[in-house]
Amino acid sequence: MSKEEILIIGPDASTRQELVRLLKGVAEVVSEAPDYSSGYTLATTTNPGVIFIDLSPDPGQGVGLIEKLVAGHTASAMFVISKEKSPDLILKVMRLGVRDFFVLPDNEAAISHAIGTLTPAMVEKPPPRGKILTVFSLLGGCGATTLATNLAGCFALNSEKKSILFDLDLYKGDVSFFLNLETPFTITDFQHNLGRLDGDLLDSSLAKHPSGLFVLGHPKSYEEIEDITGEHLTQALKKLSQHYDFVVVDCLKAINDIFLAVMDASDVIVLVALQTVPALKNTKRCLELFEQLGYNQEKIKVVLNRFAKKKLFSVDNVEKTLDWPVTATLTNLEQETTEVMNAGRLLHDVFPKAKLTQEIFSLGETLAGEAPKVAKRSRLLRFLKK
Ligand SMILES: Nc1ncnc2c1ncn2[C@@H]1O[C@H](COP(=O)(O)OP(=O)(O)OP(=O)(O)O)[C@@H](O)[C@H]1O
Ligand SMILES: [Mg+2]
Repeated sequence: MSKEEILIIGPDASTRQELVRLLKGVAEVVSEAPDYSSGYTLATTTNPGVIFIDLSPDPGQGVGLIEKLVAGHTASAMFVISKEKSPDLILKVMRLGVRDFFVLPDNEAAISHAIGTLTPAMVEKPPPRGKILTVFSLLGGCGATTLATNLAGCFALNSEKKSILFDLDLYKGDVSFFLNLETPFTITDFQHNLGRLDGDLLDSSLAKHPSGLFVLGHPKSYEEIEDITGEHLTQALKKLSQHYDFVVVDCLKAINDIFLAVMDASDVIVLVALQTVPALKNTKRCLELFEQLGYNQEKIKVVLNRFAKKKLFSVDNVEKTLDWPVTATLTNLEQETTEVMNAGRLLHDVFPKAKLTQEIFSLGETLAGEAPKVAKRSRLLRFLKK
């Protein structure tokens, strides 16, 4: 194949030099970055076909960089080099889609061989895709559906982007009640028509809320649920993220292959917690599981719902207990949440000025990672400030 353009990221200058020497003749090293942060900037601005990342000095940070690159689709061929051969580390980066893991100086020949076997299709940039945000809590009644629905509703206010709410609380499926909307088109229908559902056909098949939010409904029978697999969910989420800018998932409360597939496919997992001992114990257990799965603080965002000032359960104490940062607190606003839930409406429609509405709005902004720029949104902001 033609010579690939390569970016080398790694703080150790001698390792970078060694790689440049090895790659001479098989590829063209276009740039080098002495740290992960400048490496990320270079990767996103120059779009090299291949990126080599040296994990040796700080594997944790290096893995964080890979996750960011994967999320941003900056390159489709990534290779990792390291001084140590840790099975856990190898597994972690391979799961992220890294093509190969080399230990220097043992793998000199293997490196040039790996570059030589790359085909153009392998280094082709995948088309941009939307963000998958999954709202989850293992404990029932934490407010996951309330948050998923209203968060997705906020995204739908952005008239330049398309948002979908995916009701994946398989056995319950509360979204249609929360939005007062019939959702006849379910994950099963979606799965059966995966090959032919594109653009307009997909939009017209789905239920659509007056806010502009598309909704994929929960299965309507237990037989349907039995047929759903993790692999189906991986395909479904991939497809949805190709068509919608924001895919918000109200996730099932179970740890099984469906759960794992959804968590793996998600860019962000919003873990909803409460200021109670059982809820925090549960949250801690989930965080331990997520850490075992290799997810970091970029991916898992803890949100404290029904938040009220309590000395024992202050944000500080919760963060210490969980050993994880709290991304946002959402005010306890029972009357308003119950009212909108029963009316099948969104918080920002009925209570645009409520503190909780604004908190969900700014959480959406944080999770979307976008600055406010859309006319429709600015209108809402102005409205909120009235
Ligand atoms: N910030 C809040 N303040 C007060 N009440 C809230 C808040 N968020 C949600 N609730 C209320 O908590 C209850 C449970 O909310 P919700 O159904 O969203 O939780 P869930 O985690 O999806 O529950 P389930 O386990 O049934 O799926 C509802 O009555 C809802 O109105
Ligand atoms: Mg729910």
